[in-house]
Amino acid sequence: MTTTALRMHAFGIHNLKRETVPLPELGPTDVLVELHAASLNYRDLMTVLGTYNPKMALPRIPGSDASGIVTGVGSQVTHFQIGDHVTSLFFQDWLGGPIQPNTVKSALGGSIDGTFCTERVFPEIGLIHAPKGYTHLEAATLPCSALTAWNALVEKGHLCAGQTVLLLGTGGVSIFALLIAKAHGARVILTSSSEEKLARARQLGADETINYRTHTDWDRQVMHLTGNRGADHVVEVGGAGTLSLSFRAVTPGGRVYVIGVLAGKGQTIDPMPILAKSIHAEGVFVGSRAMFSRMIAAIETNNLHPVIDRAFPLSQAQEALTYMESGSHFGKIALSLR
Ligand SMILES: NC(=O)c1ccc[n+]([C@@H]2O[C@H](COP(=O)([O-])OP(=O)(O)OC[C@H]3O[C@@H](n4cnc5c(N)ncnc54)[C@H](OP(=O)(O)O)[C@@H]3O)[C@@H](O)[C@H]2O)c1
Repeated sequence: MTTTALRMHAFGIHNLKRETVPLPELGPTDVLVELHAASLNYRDLMTVLGTYNPKMALPRIPGSDASGIVTGVGSQVTHFQIGDHVTSLFFQDWLGGPIQPNTVKSALGGSIDGTFCTERVFPEIGLIHAPKGYTHLEAATLPCSALTAWNALVEKGHLCAGQTVLLLGTGGVSIFALLIAKAHGARVILTSSSEEKLARARQLGADETINYRTHTDWDRQVMHLTGNRGADHVVEVGGAGTLSLSFRAVTPGGRVYVIGVLAGKGQTIDPMPILAKSIHAEGVFVGSRAMFSRMIAAIETNNLHPVIDRAFPLSQAQEALTYMESGSHFGKIALSLR
């Protein structure tokens, strides 16, 4: 058995090659999936550029999420049948409980091959049924960015109605966080570099918006909008370039979820605001299968659907990655694999 995959032999978007790659034998607890869609994450772009893990062993198939149809099951598989619509898990072996030292080694498109391919063999525990009524493109947006937003606000944050959530930018994590926050009855303050994107965010329910290009002191704007109280939750996707402002914009005792590096990594952090305001600064690394299952229940109950900016065919994956690099998108970019 073989799969058609997009594989990197060297870093750089234009070094991705479309190739026929052999698939492993189906083991007793394995599931063969005909993949229909994947989505792009900032991590995938960093992986291809070589900035995520410059020491990554190559060749490697990138891709953090996928959705498809089960076409084969091993003899001991109990949860899936041929024809089921499934979605992959970012971590192939994190069932539940706290993250473990080796969990990172099971991340798709990192230490193991990812999802930019037409067929893939997954361990049974590395898959979950897609939400009812979801298209393949929609289901493929969930495993990384949506679950990260869910883990932050709901699993770690126990978000309550009436609380204020601060979201940075309009990428995949932030826009799904907006949907989750509004479904919980929270008030959302969202930043963006674009007035047009801010208007779209307001249409999706953002209560207050701030242009972080024209208001580089957006922490002050947040304080003003919250009567000098600050936000209860900050979904911190910026990293080094935004963390200090996020610490200023959060309320005493509030939570800052340390998630991303869109505005840089590797800068020294001043511990004083964390200490003085008793801030809960929490690292978030996607989420477990148990969290995914709870998120799907919430998605189905609330009829939540991700915002997909554009879908590209697999043959235009390079263009899709270049589009992501431009930062022009709002929400998710998807890849149609067939
Ligand atoms: N820890 C985890 O488990 C985890 C999981 C998923 C993602 N991440 C990380 O989270 C970050 C977001 O991922 P993503 O997939 O959502 O990315 P994305 O879709 O590529 O987000 C891009 C958007 O981020 C916004 N942005 C860029 N620089 C910004 C800045 N300085 N301040 C505020 N917003 C800024 C821009 O929004 P505007 O155009 O509106 O300005 C841009 O369009 C990445 O660093 C990614 O690696 C981490």
